[in-house]
Amino acid sequence: MSQSLELPSYLEKEPAVEDRFRRIYQRPVVLDVAGLGKTFHAANGVVEALRDIHFKVHRREFICVIGPSGCGKSTLIRILAGLDYPTSGAVKLDGHEVSGPGPDRGMVFQNYTLFPWLTVKRNVMFGPRMKGHQYRVSEAEARKWIKMVGLDRFENSYPNQLSGGMKQRVAIARTLANQPRIVLMDEPFGALDAQTRAQMQAYLQQIWLNVDVTILFITHDLDEAIYLADRIVVLDAHPGRIAEIIEVPLPQPRTPEDFISPKFLATRKRLDTLIHPPKMNDEDRLPMVKMTEPGDDVI
Ligand SMILES: Nc1ncnc2c1ncn2[C@@H]1O[C@H](COP(=O)(O)OP(=O)(O)OP(=O)(O)O)[C@@H](O)[C@H]1O
Ligand SMILES: [Mg+2]
Repeated sequence: MSQSLELPSYLEKEPAVEDRFRRIYQRPVVLDVAGLGKTFHAANGVVEALRDIHFKVHRREFICVIGPSGCGKSTLIRILAGLDYPTSGAVKLDGHEVSGPGPDRGMVFQNYTLFPWLTVKRNVMFGPRMKGHQYRVSEAEARKWIKMVGLDRFENSYPNQLSGGMKQRVAIARTLANQPRIVLMDEPFGALDAQTRAQMQAYLQQIWLNVDVTILFITHDLDEAIYLADRIVVLDAHPGRIAEIIEVPLPQPRTPEDFISPKFLATRKRLDTLIHPPKMNDEDRLPMVKMTEPGDDVI
């Protein structure tokens, strides 16, 4: 049987998918982004990075944000983290307006941000200690999260003794040890090789399934977004604005087999269309340069 990948078949929602999202939308809203805009006044002119961004993230939801380079993904996540402020609109976390950084939001960046002079355990203990928890309590807390990311054998190692993937697992453990309401991740696996990246996606999915946490995850990688997300917020560039919010029609948790399922491929096709709209004018076509002479035997 040939499987059609045309959009109408994918957009016609099945009752099971509708039901899954109905249940997600019934959960409390953790993050409410309303009419968010951001304009930078830089030396080289005015840049409207974000315009009228609206979306809500529900408790325990996994939201991915994708879009072309420069569409404002990092600007958005920095505003959500309270590291920058919007020019218009507002962000609410659990109903309270965000006006600066706070332990209720955990950040994981692409660049490794562990303290190089502290062991894995001490890195993860850092948050609980800053909250004023006693050493023993913080240590037990850190051990719990280090175990959760599968690194209990490395608790006394230093970051420079770990691979890139392991460092990111420690960064995730350190973030979770602060018990944030939402984890904000800006291309956290962007610097990893393809194999490690796939492994990290599976780890993150497991962590998300085992921990009561909400995740907003930025990525360039469309397959990564479909594999991980309940919903995908697709941004357009110049100015960054929402092109579409896609409900991924695959049940959670995903498996590697899902990568070749018709629904996955149809979602991928939809994202491709949104992110790389086909537009090739005559003047865009490259000139043909002939490098062979008549009679050349080119096989
Ligand atoms: N501090 C700043 N001052 C001036 N312009 C900025 C500043 N930060 C970001 N911009 C501009 O805002 C736009 C969005 O940048 P941003 O880094 O958020 O994009 P991005 O989607 O994260 O890109 P990438 O995928 O390459 O990481 C860009 O045009 C960028 O040049
Ligand atoms: Mg960015």
